[in-house]
Amino acid sequence: LFVILGATGDLSKKKLIPALYNLLLNKRLDDFAVIGVAKDVLNVDTLLEAARPHIRSFNLSVWNELRKRFYYFQADFYEQEKFKALHGFVESIERKHKLAENRLFYLATMPEHFEHIASWLFQCGLVAQNKHWSRVVFEKPFGKDLKSARAMNRAIQKVFSEKQIYRIDHYLGKELVQNIAVMRFTNTVLEPLWNKTFIDNVQIILAEDFGIQGRGTYYDAYGALKDVVQNHMLQLLCLVAMEAPAKLRAKDIRDEKLKVLHSVTPIRSRDVVLGQYDGYRKEKGVQRGSSTPTFAAMKLFVNNMRWKGVPFYLITGKEMKNKLTSIYIEFKKAPCPLFEGVCDFLPNHLVIQIHPNVGFYLSLNVKVPEKVDIVPATMDFCHECSFGPNTPEAYENLFLDVVKGDQSAFIRSDEIEQAWKIIDTITKKKLPLYSYRKGSYPKEANLLIAKGKRSWHLAIHRTGEGTIQE
Ligand code: BG6
Repeated sequence: LFVILGATGDLSKKKLIPALYNLLLNKRLDDFAVIGVAKDVLNVDTLLEAARPHIRSFNLSVWNELRKRFYYFQADFYEQEKFKALHGFVESIERKHKLAENRLFYLATMPEHFEHIASWLFQCGLVAQNKHWSRVVFEKPFGKDLKSARAMNRAIQKVFSEKQIYRIDHYLGKELVQNIAVMRFTNTVLEPLWNKTFIDNVQIILAEDFGIQGRGTYYDAYGALKDVVQNHMLQLLCLVAMEAPAKLRAKDIRDEKLKVLHSVTPIRSRDVVLGQYDGYRKEKGVQRGSSTPTFAAMKLFVNNMRWKGVPFYLITGKEMKNKLTSIYIEFKKAPCPLFEGVCDFLPNHLVIQIHPNVGFYLSLNVKVPEKVDIVPATMDFCHECSFGPNTPEAYENLFLDVVKGDQSAFIRSDEIEQAWKIIDTITKKKLPLYSYRKGSYPKEANLLIAKGKRSWHLAIHRTGEGTIQE
């Protein structure tokens, strides 16, 4: 039984309900029911209708099937009587659908409600006590700094064991992100090159060509650093930089990621650029004089044997030119004298493109016929070309992982706290906030990377073009 708390929110209609629909459509999960819980007075049809525009391949009979398994329970999270009544409702639905008492509670609410809801779930008897399991999923952001995340961890660990807790970062459910570890640790051609001797710099890019999409109240309290850097981007950093785990299983992967986070050296003020797009302060829900950054760029170092001295550049922003999520790994340039007089070629690079045109793209230099000109040619792994267009969405994979009890794509308490420590060192600084026009980003970010005689690689790689388009 899935119990979604905060069922009328954006996440639920855009991601969670469509994910459950797809699991049913693709026959990946059959024996389940769902209860949506929120304080709004509405019925299940209105709830599902709100999700319908977000369904990609609509099929009426699958939709009707989902409807038969879906329930809505109106409750304010602070009314204890309602929670007690929810317990009775949960049991009645389990009986009706002949479900074992295995319960997945999904907290799709603002994080300030996490502690409270977790403790009431327990107190009101909703957490199964017998041979069945109860697991609880916490949406991001988990806390707003180290102190609050720590307090939240302590509070929920009083009620649930770490084995029952799933702190979500939907990036870890994305197919290509899950592919990074496989790509790194099953291809021996890469391993000898994956270090400071051969890699010049790594760029982690999460650029978006849209704004805050009506989420002003939430976004203004968090901003770019807490909304995506603390979680998605630091997780990508971990997957690129970590050592091979003993096995690709939860404990080993989390241990290795944690070591990376511990090795990140304190980020210096001069290595951070924050920005805010013009017009942000006029957005609904945003404070008029807000100093929340909608853009962040930074340079950091992972101080260990493998990476000492290699800069990792992170860049993210709302209202930039393109929506591009990628990791650009730039290898050192071969020495010039190799071709006499011809120095004008790009270093090799591997692009791990998470959006769009999902794939891995390795550029090698080749010679143009009848000339000595050197141009990059790309070796492509285009995900869709190989596996078709219908790859599961992150949330589908993550739902199934929780059902199976696999925590490898979820964040452990110590990882989340260490990631906050990194962000706290930045937020405690008094840094200038540069404004930028929509469709661009602050020019100061170019200066940041130019100091190292490098530039950002923000162009989208397009499958089949053979070369990287700048
Ligand atoms: C979410 C952030 O976690 O990730 C959003 O709250 C951001 O602000 C989104 O847009 C990006 O996710 P994706 O999967 O669209 O790259």
